[in-house]
Amino acid sequence: MPENLLKWYVESGADEAIGDVPINRYTESTSADTPPQTSAPTPRPSLDTLPVGDVSGKARRLAAACTTLDQLKSALEGFDGCGLKATAKSLVFADGNPHATVMLVGEAPGAEEDRQGLPFVGSSGQLLDKMLAAIGLDRESVYIANILPWRPPGNRKPTTEETLTCLPFIERHIELVAPNLLMLLGGTSAGTLLNTTEGITRLRGKWQSYQAGDRQIDTLPTYHPAYLLRQPAQKRDAWRDLLSLRARMNADETQAKVP
Ligand code: URA
Repeated sequence: MPENLLKWYVESGADEAIGDVPINRYTESTSADTPPQTSAPTPRPSLDTLPVGDVSGKARRLAAACTTLDQLKSALEGFDGCGLKATAKSLVFADGNPHATVMLVGEAPGAEEDRQGLPFVGSSGQLLDKMLAAIGLDRESVYIANILPWRPPGNRKPTTEETLTCLPFIERHIELVAPNLLMLLGGTSAGTLLNTTEGITRLRGKWQSYQAGDRQIDTLPTYHPAYLLRQPAQKRDAWRDLLSLRARMNADETQAKVP
């Protein structure tokens, strides 16, 4: 393959070989019964209506057995139920302070995160660091993880199956960190953890209660930093959400000091 073509593939996001045998798409038949291609998005089914197969049951049992974050990380390292593991270079588990009162949950690692094995270290991570700094926070004062710990090839959106397969691990992750406040970055994170098909534009900025085991955690969905890089006009709303998070932290700190 000419070097320029290969470079173009990589720049377009097609940077993983996921099949051993090449497929010649030009020779595939286009029979009359082939359904027409449409760009209309498939509605995302509610999590309750999806069958929970063995893989998900196995993930749930494995995650439930973990009582520490180290155990959870090892359980993920040994878990082969999610196909994303095969194409990812690294398990991207978490970053930040596991004793922090605030936990942020994103969607899935990108190329740079996959290279470094840490969440939010690429361009959206740089914006996230600036957003946190604007309200006096940094990676020592928050804890960061993703719904999926492996990078989807070419940065595609994770499928519902991949998300549901890994869901027990991030749920247990949140239980073990037990933060006071949770901030959900983007529609995948908010929709998955709050079990809703409502879009992020409607969800953002509204505090909700997330059930983590037997605890309720005050939870604020907001825009994903990658979306803000594409739509800088939305930073105004994201700023409101950050201020709301800071205000809730301050209120919690004041309350904790009351004798
Ligand atoms: N986007 C995410 O949702 N998570 C990361 O870790 C990086 C980019």
